[in-house]
Amino acid sequence: MIFARFLSINITPLNLFTYTFLDNKIMLYFINGVTGLQKRIVIEGGKELYGEVSISGAKNAVLKLIAAALLVKDVCTIHNVPDLSDVETMVDLINCLGAKTKYNKTTQTIEIDATDINNCTADYAYVSKMRASFNVLGALLSRCGEAKVALPGGCAIGERRVDFHIKGMQLLGAEVNIENGYVIAKSSHLEGADISLATPSVGATENIMLASIFAQGVTRIQNAAQEPEIVDLANFLNMTGADISGAGTSEIVINGVEKGSLKGIEYSTIPDRIEAASYICAVCATGGEIIVKDIIPAHLTFFINKMQEIGVSFSVINPYTIKVTKNAKLKSADLVTQPYPGFHTDMQAPVMSVLALADGISIITESLFENRFMQVPELRRMGADIQQENSRAIIKGVEFLTGAEVKASDLRAGASLVIAALAAQGTSSISNIHHIDRGYEKLEEKFSLLGANIKRVEINENLSDNQVVNPKVMIL
Ligand code: EPZ
Repeated sequence: MIFARFLSINITPLNLFTYTFLDNKIMLYFINGVTGLQKRIVIEGGKELYGEVSISGAKNAVLKLIAAALLVKDVCTIHNVPDLSDVETMVDLINCLGAKTKYNKTTQTIEIDATDINNCTADYAYVSKMRASFNVLGALLSRCGEAKVALPGGCAIGERRVDFHIKGMQLLGAEVNIENGYVIAKSSHLEGADISLATPSVGATENIMLASIFAQGVTRIQNAAQEPEIVDLANFLNMTGADISGAGTSEIVINGVEKGSLKGIEYSTIPDRIEAASYICAVCATGGEIIVKDIIPAHLTFFINKMQEIGVSFSVINPYTIKVTKNAKLKSADLVTQPYPGFHTDMQAPVMSVLALADGISIITESLFENRFMQVPELRRMGADIQQENSRAIIKGVEFLTGAEVKASDLRAGASLVIAALAAQGTSSISNIHHIDRGYEKLEEKFSLLGANIKRVEINENLSDNQVVNPKVMIL
């Protein structure tokens, strides 16, 4: 208890910690942070969803807009910024590079003043936490003439190489080396080039766009990714004074502009189509009727068509609002994930929870990532009948799912478990929810407003199940 007073930490006999002596210091190691408590989402399932849900700004767009602001020697204000842990990581990263930021979560706005960038190293601490940190590579190379960015390793969903990013920088004239786990790119003079991507990688398209903004002459990215987030990035950059055309098609053309010529702007992030799809999947799994507001329905066309095929009704209320109704048994369907405008890989896991309850046998083929069926064993624990054969999941619809303790392995797998738990009979408890917090703003609040019985709880966990982290040093 003396320790507790000294450190101003509320330690009860139930909180778990261990300690070691080092010189004249005691290192206190608390389990999972300061208190030893684990957060979980607990859901009492089986309730239909009704009401309205407002969709937040797109995580996968705003992270790249924040990186792009590094190119502007002025103040950029980004609106419609979701309150997510990934956004915090990106803000921390650009602060470390020298940008000055004001992140107001109440107004959902970030002001970024990148007038002075005095560090061109993105440390592994950021990149290992969030792969999108790698997107500062192109911006830093372009802005500072050099960039040292930690090489991301593989991650839960697949190998996720960055060879297209590196090749793109080289074709623009940069010298790129990999040393001690870092990509080091240098060039005092980038020149436009024709760059053809082997597959339309979202991250590589974005990084090459950012790198080529001040390159002399014309850069053409062929087989470019066409995602709405790419268009958002191009719109943002064009407003600042960049010259990009063709975003949203397979060929993007960037005419280099003078370094230092970009101006500060105010810009609002596009809505998160994956969050929207996740709420739509939830009502499809539980039954009911919801109004989904603040979206761009055109970004969801392929998804909506697929959901109509399985028996869900959609009606347009206004250009930014749709009504989703599920009042009949759903039919099975087959789908293959593909780059935009095809069926989005990020929507695959949420849809699997819906198909687990549909009539008949559905087949999902994951064509982008090697390991994106991490939700399958957990859904099976809830009573789903799913077999995995390499990149295919064969889903035999069941009458009902049952609540269980399950673990989120990544962001979208976590969303699929939330959806399954909302539909399941009984109580589910989902752990590892930091994955879910990376991409779903105010999840419990939004589902509660739709009538779900969902809450976040903190519980003490068993020492052996947890990592011991965060040493707190006490000088004796
Ligand atoms: C973005 O990842 C998204 N992340 C992912 O969303 C999304 O699943 C993915 O695009 C596909 O749409 C962000 O925007 C932060 P890619 P990214 O480069 O850019 C291969 C979520 O849940 N590839 O389009 O990393 C790669 O291995 C996340 O929000 C190479 O081989 O995806 C993959 O198989 C997860 N070499 C395929 O291309 C490269 O240099 C597509 O990856 C680059 C990619």
